[in-house]
Amino acid sequence: MAHPHASLPVAVFDSGVGGLTVLHECLVSLPHEDFTYFGDTARFPYGERSPVALRAFALELGELLLARGAKLLVVACNSATAAALPSLRVALEGRVRVIGVVAPESLLAAGVTRSGEVGLLATPATVASGAYERALATSAPEARLHAVACPELAPLIQAGGEVDDRLVDCVEGYCAPLRAAGVDTVILGCTHYPLVRPLIQRAMGRGVAIVSSGQAIADEVARELRLAGIERKVDRRGSYRFLCSGDPQAFRRVGVRFLQMPLGDVRRVAVAAAPPARAAA
Ligand code: DGL
Repeated sequence: MAHPHASLPVAVFDSGVGGLTVLHECLVSLPHEDFTYFGDTARFPYGERSPVALRAFALELGELLLARGAKLLVVACNSATAAALPSLRVALEGRVRVIGVVAPESLLAAGVTRSGEVGLLATPATVASGAYERALATSAPEARLHAVACPELAPLIQAGGEVDDRLVDCVEGYCAPLRAAGVDTVILGCTHYPLVRPLIQRAMGRGVAIVSSGQAIADEVARELRLAGIERKVDRRGSYRFLCSGDPQAFRRVGVRFLQMPLGDVRRVAVAAAPPARAAA
């Protein structure tokens, strides 16, 4: 008989639409599972928030998604993972398992780099947390991490405008220190960045490996579900639905580009008020 939790969806959250790049991989790899996605667009960007604020948001969203039913929780946001994963795991222990995005990417980078010079593009919050230094020190103790905080990049991507010169200049500017450092691998330390992967690849050159977390997370979701015996049968087509804390129309408009699949209905769900991101940082 199937486990009573097996029929629940996998819950995924991000500060906005960036986590849809992770959901995309999950939907492709696990088409038989159901997913609920929450974009905290009202409090975007997380990348300028303090660790205290990020931990409060993550706990609130974890409870909110659990109350709606979830058999596994995926933090598809590097800023929230870097600040809140351990405390979220403690708070939800025994109720739901939690997967984050930092460790799987560091493992991938450790396997790919030859020179040991590894670049990181991430939000200010993620860079300041030191989470990638710690993760890489575990997976590749000899490697050196060259981290670049990119305060403008996720907001520019989330705004959903044209891929124009402004975006190209922004990417080129953030990649310049990594080129100067001669890295052979770049970690995309923010779930928004896969959307500008071609620009980053062009700025860095063909010979540089680019690592993102989507497929690694999808593999980890599959492994966790299997280990807990809560996976769905593969002979069904799963469903997915979207919740956000800001404007659902704006989420839909930009989200399609990230998910590369139809979004359908997007529901607004209220969250606790927070001051504008930069003031809270
Ligand atoms: N998607 C978020 C992350 O991975 C970044 C965007 C933000 O600043 O909220 O960190």
